Amino acid sequence: MAKRLLLLMGALITCAVLGACAGQNSSCPEGGFNSISVKKYSNFTPGKLWLDNNGRHINAHGAGFLHDNGRYYMFGEHKLGGALGNKALVGVHCYSSDDLYNWKDEGIAFKMSRDPESKVIIGTVLERPKVLYNPKTKKYVMFFHLEFRQGPTKKSLNIDDIRKEKNDYSAANIGFAVADKITGPYKFVGSTRLHANKFPVNASESLKKLVAQNKNFDNISELGNSVKNGTVDDLFAKHFKIGQTCRDFTAFLDDDGKAYIISASEGNGTLYVSELNDDFLGFTGKYTRNLIGGFHEAPAIFKTKGKYYMFSSHCTGWNPNPGRVSVSDNIMGEWRELGNPCRGEGQVESSTYRAAKADTTFRSQSTYVIPVQGKADAFIYFGDRWHPYDAMDGRYIMLPVEWEGDMPVIRWRNSWNLSFFDSKK
Ligand code: DGJ
Repeated sequence: MAKRLLLLMGALITCAVLGACAGQNSSCPEGGFNSISVKKYSNFTPGKLWLDNNGRHINAHGAGFLHDNGRYYMFGEHKLGGALGNKALVGVHCYSSDDLYNWKDEGIAFKMSRDPESKVIIGTVLERPKVLYNPKTKKYVMFFHLEFRQGPTKKSLNIDDIRKEKNDYSAANIGFAVADKITGPYKFVGSTRLHANKFPVNASESLKKLVAQNKNFDNISELGNSVKNGTVDDLFAKHFKIGQTCRDFTAFLDDDGKAYIISASEGNGTLYVSELNDDFLGFTGKYTRNLIGGFHEAPAIFKTKGKYYMFSSHCTGWNPNPGRVSVSDNIMGEWRELGNPCRGEGQVESSTYRAAKADTTFRSQSTYVIPVQGKADAFIYFGDRWHPYDAMDGRYIMLPVEWEGDMPVIRWRNSWNLSFFDSKK
């Protein structure tokens, strides 16, 4: 069995390096992998290979989910093998499912461009895609964290040039794309930093004064998990005119039809909740700063019993860290941290897996919380077990959200299914 999996992975990697497993235009032999009998799942097995209807490991990292016309859709980063795989060379992969266990490959919903002038040229960094349906425009809107290639080869389509470029996270944009059909194709609309020249609705007087001072903030820089030579307020003031940074984020549609982007901003130091405008392709200008200076990444929001809950992480790059969960009565805040939601022993070490304990969110980082349709208060924590040196082999951790009083918690389970939620009633 192990040998068969190795063979399968080898074939997948070869295929992905050739850019061939991206859906249509595949140069993989027709039916090549389909000859491997495709397993029908009736359980979730977090951390294991998760094969789609063609027998390929699902390639949708940093995923977002949407339930639409009776089906679930998953959108995620299509990664390649090796470390190069963290660059966006293919695009956003879409899958669909009617039971959350078994997923059909719907192909590449958003394709990276081969136009050297495009902001979404192959080889950029495009992360954590999320999709919402806008009933007013009748369009599907895709959002993603977008970074730009930098340096002398930034317009090159040559794979060796792309390989040599260091991933650059300084642009910190949010990108927008739209489609008429949920599975795409999504057309790139544009990208931006956040809220240039605008204060949040909860701006303190001291923040306003700091900006008014118009100081030189050249020596203030962000390191992803701290601000060098200053504070997050200094960073806010530094970026006031050019717009605030937007990296890890999620998109959330509220019951009243209003939609929001929740983003790690100010060098990941502060979480922003930003109201989207009517077409979801820009912002109304109403936004709040939350958990200021708390350094969160990976926000994933859900709403139940009139409250908003948010899983998130600390900022340690691709390395996992202790998870976090926060609560608020209002989407715009004030958010309150509840602590690490992970409980129990975690994944016990085996011949195949290293131990995965609560202090590393069971070796995962949150990306979404899936509301299970047709079951009251049933939510699934969904996270990535990143594999940065063989990006395509990243695994998915899906665990049921449980409760300790008013605090959502998660426990490791090697295998579980949706009947979990019935037994909790
Ligand atoms: C952690 C983020 O959550 C990921 O999406 C990615 O940006 C990595 N950092 C890059 O190091």
